[in-house]
Amino acid sequence: MQGWADLYSWQLDRASRTPLSRQIYMQVCSAVASGALCAGARMPSSRAMARQLGVARASVVSAYEQLLAEGYVESRHGSGTFISNDVAGLATRRRAPRAIKRTVPTMARAFPDFERSAVQGDARPFNTGRTLIDARTADTWRTLTHRAVRQFGSNDLGYADPAGLTALRANICDYLRAARAVQCEAEQIVITAGTQQAIDIAIRVLLAPGDEVWVEDPGYPLTHAQLLLAKVRPHAIPVDDQGLIVDTGRRKAPRARAVFVTPSHQFPCGVAMSMARRLELLAWARQSGAFIVEDDYTSEFRYSGPPLASLQGLDRSEQVIYVGTLNKALFPGLRIGYAAVPRALLQAFVGARYLIDRQPATLQQEVVSQFMQQGHFAAHVRRMRQLYREQRDALAETLTRRAAGSLDVALPDQGMHLVAYLRDGTSDVEIEEAARRAGIIVRAISRFYRSARPRAGLMLGFSGFPRQLIVPAAARLARLVASRGRD
Ligand SMILES: Cc1ncc(COP(=O)(O)O)c(C=O)c1O
Repeated sequence: MQGWADLYSWQLDRASRTPLSRQIYMQVCSAVASGALCAGARMPSSRAMARQLGVARASVVSAYEQLLAEGYVESRHGSGTFISNDVAGLATRRRAPRAIKRTVPTMARAFPDFERSAVQGDARPFNTGRTLIDARTADTWRTLTHRAVRQFGSNDLGYADPAGLTALRANICDYLRAARAVQCEAEQIVITAGTQQAIDIAIRVLLAPGDEVWVEDPGYPLTHAQLLLAKVRPHAIPVDDQGLIVDTGRRKAPRARAVFVTPSHQFPCGVAMSMARRLELLAWARQSGAFIVEDDYTSEFRYSGPPLASLQGLDRSEQVIYVGTLNKALFPGLRIGYAAVPRALLQAFVGARYLIDRQPATLQQEVVSQFMQQGHFAAHVRRMRQLYREQRDALAETLTRRAAGSLDVALPDQGMHLVAYLRDGTSDVEIEEAARRAGIIVRAISRFYRSARPRAGLMLGFSGFPRQLIVPAAARLARLVASRGRD
């Protein structure tokens, strides 16, 4: 009688770099997985198999040994080698992916499908979150990276301080004190993988499931989603032209344990929180014992003067976690941010960071640290600020000139995007879709509202695109908006 090995179509590739013994092993495994070989099937002797395949017996013996060691086959003394009974069901299990789908836990299903990197990687104007890196910075970055690699000793390659490299923390501390009036010592700086991680850690350290918090309305959707995943109860507090309306927060959720704000450049509207509101918010935090998480994501790019002083700098009771990022000032793929953490929370914050992600990548920190220390960071920000200002102006001017009747452009004093509000009840979601079809990326700001009555507006990133691209794209967008307005 013919054995299964005669029927099976063996496909050994003698030119391949994969050893023949490995190929034989893999063929048997896949025959088991596909159901071609069932539990209890008898394997040919190694000699017979070698003859049939035209390979050295040693290759077959080696494959059989591996199959035996992994439990695919079992050897029965005196009667030969058989496909193991333990693999029964392997084939059917593999064939039923739908059965796996049904078992997705509820928590896993709670992760919504955010408009993630696929959208952010899109290089079409006016996608937000993009930055420009000029040749000077690219060259310096290359040089510093080579140097850091050359100088790396074995001590630098191991586990290190979860809070980050001492030198980088000191450089960031100096920068924050000088540029943002943040009150901190270097030991209070914790390096994170960007704002996203700093906010995640702040939530873990400050809040328990069921705790109430305030978020801005409209506000940053990722912070809101992070809070929901932590089973915290966010209360949407409206924002006006002075920033978060503290009085509404006090009435709506007086027992809130924390508030998440973007005071120097409110997301997405771009307003700066007034001094009166800052003091009111700090006074509320002091009285209620709540913490403030200050997301200062684009403070480097202020166009009408030096950066605004941080909210943290006004705090006298250490109740503000200040969060900043280099992913905007430099480039989002860098994934380096930082938090200036009140001393009372420091141990918990560093502990949480360690449990989530051990530590930031050492080499990257070294490069950033040198980049700051040698003055390249300040110079880069100066050059980009000038460039982004020109890009902002080109965008605002073109839109205002070409769509004055349909759009109100809010010229932001700071940041990397502007909002053009739609007149006459035009739907921003419809414009978003129509623009996308025309090769232009805009974000409908009505999506960022929770309870407050949404305003229709288009969020347009200007930082990632040279002027030559901005002007024709803005003209096309203006035409599109004007034609919709007439419909
Ligand atoms: C409000 C806000 N905070 C922070 C960030 C930056 O996040 P990260 O530092 O994680 O890249 C962004 C980016 O779009 C943002 O819009």
